Amino acid sequence: MPRKIVVTSALPYANGPIHIGHLVEYLQTDIWVRFHKMCGNRCFYFCADDTHGTPVMISARAAGISPEELIGQVYKEHKRDFNAFYVEFDNYYSTHSPENRYFSELIFSRLNKAGSIVKRNVEQAYCQNCKMSLPDRFVRGTCPRCKAEDQYGDSCEICSATYRPTDLINPYCATCRAGPTLKTSEHYFFKLADYEQKLKELIDGGYAQKSVANKLNEWFKAGLRDWDISRDGPYFGFKIPGEENKFFYVWLDAPIGYMASAKNYCDKNNLDFDKLWNSGEYELYHFIGKDIMYFHALFWPAMLIGAGFKTADKLFVHGFLTVNGEKMSKSRGTFIEADTYLKYLKPEYLRYYYASKLTDGIDDIDLNTDDFINKNNSNLVGKFANLASRSGPMLIKNLAAQLGQLDDRGRQLINKLTTAKDHIIEDYEDLKFAAVVRTIIALADEANRYVEQNRPWVTIKTDLEKTRTTLTAIINAVRILTIYLKPILPGYAQKIEKFLNVDKLKFADVETLLQNHRINDFQRLVERIDKKQVNAMIEESKEGQGLKPPGPAEAEAVVTEPFKSECTIEDFGKIDLRIARVVKAEVVEGADKLLRLQLDVGGLDRSVLAAIAQAYKPDELAGKIVVYLANLKPRKMRFGLSEGMILAVGTGGKDIFMLSADAGAKPGQKVL
Ligand code: 2FM
Ligand code: ZN
Repeated sequence: MPRKIVVTSALPYANGPIHIGHLVEYLQTDIWVRFHKMCGNRCFYFCADDTHGTPVMISARAAGISPEELIGQVYKEHKRDFNAFYVEFDNYYSTHSPENRYFSELIFSRLNKAGSIVKRNVEQAYCQNCKMSLPDRFVRGTCPRCKAEDQYGDSCEICSATYRPTDLINPYCATCRAGPTLKTSEHYFFKLADYEQKLKELIDGGYAQKSVANKLNEWFKAGLRDWDISRDGPYFGFKIPGEENKFFYVWLDAPIGYMASAKNYCDKNNLDFDKLWNSGEYELYHFIGKDIMYFHALFWPAMLIGAGFKTADKLFVHGFLTVNGEKMSKSRGTFIEADTYLKYLKPEYLRYYYASKLTDGIDDIDLNTDDFINKNNSNLVGKFANLASRSGPMLIKNLAAQLGQLDDRGRQLINKLTTAKDHIIEDYEDLKFAAVVRTIIALADEANRYVEQNRPWVTIKTDLEKTRTTLTAIINAVRILTIYLKPILPGYAQKIEKFLNVDKLKFADVETLLQNHRINDFQRLVERIDKKQVNAMIEESKEGQGLKPPGPAEAEAVVTEPFKSECTIEDFGKIDLRIARVVKAEVVEGADKLLRLQLDVGGLDRSVLAAIAQAYKPDELAGKIVVYLANLKPRKMRFGLSEGMILAVGTGGKDIFMLSADAGAKPGQKVL
């Protein structure tokens, strides 16, 4: 009996682009779903954009559009990127949907009836200027523990202390820099602790991997606290029924988005949603990253239990992506957007590489760029594709593209390949994709050895029929390896299906042979990666390098950088900006960050100390036309006098970009 399975991946936020970190999860899930479909199981893959919350609202404001417009744009971009990477959802929906509103209200009212919701006053930071309550990350100030300035409202990046925004010294609104006031407001709380026993039973019953269960036990020991599920307006989300200005917190309606996506699909396809979502007839699995375990292992199942829905059979939790052993970083150019990746590299490479690293554990996976190039070139191109390109064209050219029959040696080879099937299926099922890839490589080595031993390029000159027999075995090996690889490399498999002139391959096809069959023309399958492509992709991903207009994510990043307090037009009028030409730049002994610049400001010489040494080499600067703040009072610094200042943008360190003017501008000219 085929199994019936519903699968979800975490819903990506609708305020930024898909990047290679996200793709670990979507590719892992997609491979698993494709594997099940190829086994003949009825498997549905549902996902959606996670659209609500303050960051989306602020990003939309910054971009001068409505939140609906913003999430509409992002939705299209997300779908485009997923498609390009062959991530094939059965439905990709949005949490800003009528179905999601319906289920959010339903679940809330059922929890209310069950006595699991209480109201309590909370004190929260409020910005009079922005006219909104400030989420923890939108309040900044001085850390109460180590006194570091400019820290977030929930934790300090310097000493790692965690605290409440009200604990910050000199707090200010991250958007407008005004000091927030404290406001008391009534919020709704979900009494998570009411579900402790049921959650423990769920987890003891194998709801998550062992390492996840251990983490959950720590949380149980620490005690389950009530969860604040409401937010005051203005807020982009669903209004709480009966309330004027209160909304469901984004994390309440986000997982409900899984149901909404399923419901939307069922309605469009005439399927019974209650059966699909809430009966034992269907298995249900959520794929998530380890950062959102608390939500999926505690809040979400508790909500479902309280509202009378079934919980998932299992959570599949994965680790984070690191690149070359470090966190993805914008300044190193390793925070690579899906879209940027695709300008330089094929999706197959990333699918293959991630598969070759993925296990059923929650350890982080590392994308090592040299290893990425090697693995793709030596295995994907050198072992799999090569097998097809060594046999197909020869058969087409010399033997009328016609396969013959296997002899004993050929049958021996094919038997070795087919007997691996159960093992491969088991590893796919258990999410041990790295083991799957290792097994397939060993089988490809076996097939390549067969080619070396039978030397079809030699026999083709003397014995056509013997060569046909050899090539028939090789083509059958290609076919079986392709079946095994197909969940990982669907695009590649499609090309092979066309070339072999066969229907869509499924796991059951491993048991049959392709004999006395005519194949089609051969098309190139996959190219080698050149290191230059990877370097260029990284270069483009370095912050500030791309020429793309700021998208919503950048818009948000810009606006969350605090503004200084207001200045008047009169204040601004005091500033005298001039064009200057860098005559000479030199290193300042003992100061890592400083360069001494000699400027020509229309016949006047000025000497400026600029903190740009990590971003520019002295010899890059001579002759540059820059914008110069001419009337800044000269400052005596440890390393000498600085007369004025050149203007630059960026966050510091390597990320500094001098403002330059048109090369035709004359030193001394005013900047308007
Ligand atoms: O962490 C995140 O990116 C969230 N947008 C995931 C939500 S998953 C589900 F609960 F909707
Ligand atoms: Zn503000």
